[in-house]
Amino acid sequence: MSNTHFQLDRQGRLLHFLTIEGLKRHHLIEILDTAESLRGVAERRVKKLPTLHGKTVVNLFFEASTRTRTTFELAAKRLSADVLTLNIATSSAVKGESLLDTLRNIEAMQCDMFVVRHEQSGAAEFIARHVKPHIAVLNAGDGRHAHPTQAMLDVFTIRRHKPAFEALQVAIVGDILHSRVARSLIHALGILGTPDIRVIAPRTLLPVDVEKLGVRVFDNPTIGLRGVDVIVMLRLQKERMAGALLPSEREFFQCYGLTEERLALAKPDAIVMHPGPINRGVEIDSRVADGPRSVILEQVTNGIAARMAIMSITLGNHARPTGEQI
Ligand code: NCD
Repeated sequence: MSNTHFQLDRQGRLLHFLTIEGLKRHHLIEILDTAESLRGVAERRVKKLPTLHGKTVVNLFFEASTRTRTTFELAAKRLSADVLTLNIATSSAVKGESLLDTLRNIEAMQCDMFVVRHEQSGAAEFIARHVKPHIAVLNAGDGRHAHPTQAMLDVFTIRRHKPAFEALQVAIVGDILHSRVARSLIHALGILGTPDIRVIAPRTLLPVDVEKLGVRVFDNPTIGLRGVDVIVMLRLQKERMAGALLPSEREFFQCYGLTEERLALAKPDAIVMHPGPINRGVEIDSRVADGPRSVILEQVTNGIAARMAIMSITLGNHARPTGEQI
């Protein structure tokens, strides 16, 4: 797709947050360290910092979302921004004119940041290319392309349990083909130096050339899960499936579902992750989802700190006078 450096200014600082691809290790570490320092805000009596006081953040959600939308909203509020959330029913394509029209109208309300979720890949970048230069655009998921804030909350959660990325074995299981979460996470883990990233799925749910992302491919979880430190389960994204790629959900669970027996193949201290929403009995057994190795709800909590970090870094870079933009 597009020029992945578009989100950086001439000094290489983040102005927008559109994709993990093309970022450097120091960008990710800055986000992780900032998120770590912001995580404590939730434990305070007054859960607020003045960082974005006087700024207006607009959540533009053209596609359904629960966790991402609400944690973005909370993140902005905890940084003292004024927040507006628009759930916009959408047609199947980015309608150049109408999207730009929506944008111009919201821009006219003097906003400082757009958080965009859209079913079309490239929508957030399209918006970033057309907004006024003082506005930061964050991608909250675009089609099958990218979900960079989810990747950051995922690696943040991993680092809190397993700090050495250079020694990690990570398995991502399920519908990789339709998953923007998997793509962004694979890029983030690669940039952070993870030597062993595995994808486990039937061939019908893997992108062509998936190996080019630097992963090892397994179609058998009994082999692929052996000895891993982290297991990331993915939902079957049926709304993105054009035809029948699977015999049945029951069969998928039998072949790939994460049960206690399969979890036992991983390291004894392995963690189980899932971006949500989970489908119990389809990709994951309830005993695993609610069990002691699951960090699924921790991911939700960490999403607030990760998004606070990304918001304060990008808006901070916009505010600096030397932040000359491309
Ligand atoms: C994911 C998404 O929307 O891409 N969910 C999320 O953001 N927490 C994954 C999914 O929908 O399965």
